[in-house]
Amino acid sequence: MRYLLGIDIGTSGAKALLVNADTAEIVASSVESYELSTPTPLWAEQSPGDWWQAVIASVSNVLNASKIDAAEIKGIGLSGQMHGSVFLDENGSVLRPAILWCDQRTQAECDWIMDTVGRERTIELTSNPILTGFTAGKIIWTRNHEPEVYSRVKKVLLPKDYIRFRLTGEFATEVSDASGTGLFDVKRREWSWEMLDAINIPSHWMPHSYESVEISGKISREAASLTGLAEGTPGVGGGGDQAAGAVGNGVVEDGIVSSAVGTSGVVFAFTDKPVVDPKLRLHTFCHAMPNKWHMMGVMLSAGGSLRWYRDTFADTETVIAKALGVDPYDVICKEAAKAPAGSEGLIFLPYLTGERTPHPNPHARGVFFGITLRSDRPHFMRAVLEGVAYGLRDSFTILDEMNIPISQIRASGGGARSEIWRQIQADVTGKNHVTINVEEGPALGAALLAGVGTGIYPTVADACRSIIKVTSQTNTNPAAKRIYDGFYPIYRSLYNSLVGQFDAVAALMDN
Ligand code: XUL
Repeated sequence: MRYLLGIDIGTSGAKALLVNADTAEIVASSVESYELSTPTPLWAEQSPGDWWQAVIASVSNVLNASKIDAAEIKGIGLSGQMHGSVFLDENGSVLRPAILWCDQRTQAECDWIMDTVGRERTIELTSNPILTGFTAGKIIWTRNHEPEVYSRVKKVLLPKDYIRFRLTGEFATEVSDASGTGLFDVKRREWSWEMLDAINIPSHWMPHSYESVEISGKISREAASLTGLAEGTPGVGGGGDQAAGAVGNGVVEDGIVSSAVGTSGVVFAFTDKPVVDPKLRLHTFCHAMPNKWHMMGVMLSAGGSLRWYRDTFADTETVIAKALGVDPYDVICKEAAKAPAGSEGLIFLPYLTGERTPHPNPHARGVFFGITLRSDRPHFMRAVLEGVAYGLRDSFTILDEMNIPISQIRASGGGARSEIWRQIQADVTGKNHVTINVEEGPALGAALLAGVGTGIYPTVADACRSIIKVTSQTNTNPAAKRIYDGFYPIYRSLYNSLVGQFDAVAALMDN
């Protein structure tokens, strides 16, 4: 038998997924969690050492559970949370905690980069504006605020690429994740040497960049003895979690778009060429397929908003869930269904960690608007689900404006598991959503990329066809859509009405 292994370095945990390439079956999977630290409200950090320990544990778990011979694993693919900065010294030791994709501390550095390079030239070179989530600002922040750390940096890696380094000893990345650094020429699929030079970042700090399906290294003896993998097993480039997740959802041809609600909420569209949103609200990145690109809109707190609600307000639902032996999210979604569509005018803005699409603003905050005496617990729960769906609609609206074809939307991530939330997404966006037979997203995509790189599948699209099938469809309910069409313009106007107040609160918090 021939097996493929996908490893995903998520924000809440590392997942290892073993796929039988001959039978197209998922054989075993294991997730090991780790902490996220928020030393101040805008910061988000993790320890790369924790990722590595979680990878060792999850890979060992799948090998033990499946009882396969590790030599039957023909290839390994990596995927991971994008944009995070891992700084290594000359011995390959980690210099400080990784600054993550959802960290918002770098606005001043992003402004400085755009001023120094010039806004238009930045877009020409990287196809995107420099946003606080991206890696470039994190490097400059470290130069400005931690010169002692900065002076010892010898390599800058993205999260999954640190794991590649631990597994293979190679410093490497691939085009889809490198696209989110703000230092990569997305059109040419290569580092932007001009960008690096202009802001004075040594180009040799950047790892070699491969295509996602290219082999970038082999499992070292040391990694083999720690994980149980076979020394010499090839690893491919893999992908940032969004591009790898898109492969795992079969978003590999025109018209297929995914809407993934994990911690973040991402609308992802395949494109044949690099297309740039004239208003720069969507990202333009390389896809994990050779010579293909994608556009995506990223909400920072989608599933994250529901998690916040659960942890802050849903003690009762959590107790009930425990008694019933179900997930607290199931109880919350059932409760939410008791409130009517539109939550009687209660509107939630899901900007709990600032926002990226369509408002790139680290100061934006979450809001409940329109509370009345009738606003009950189900209204609040439903408003959270609806607010996230309005945010996703923002990205679909931009894709429509840009005439990017949408023939099928594949709902994925935790937000696709709940029938009621899927229905709300179909009703708010006015677009039918389908689900597919596999839920493993990025880890599956990474495994499939490994299958292409090692010659098991001829192309990424072939790999997807062999495994991914549509299993259900959620159709828009016209009556609910009419209600949401009424509230959506109000949702949109609330951000514009409040943006000054968001800034004012941020200024007070800085003092
Ligand atoms: C994508 C993004 C997030 C992270 C974490 O641009 O910032 O989706 O990759 O999942």
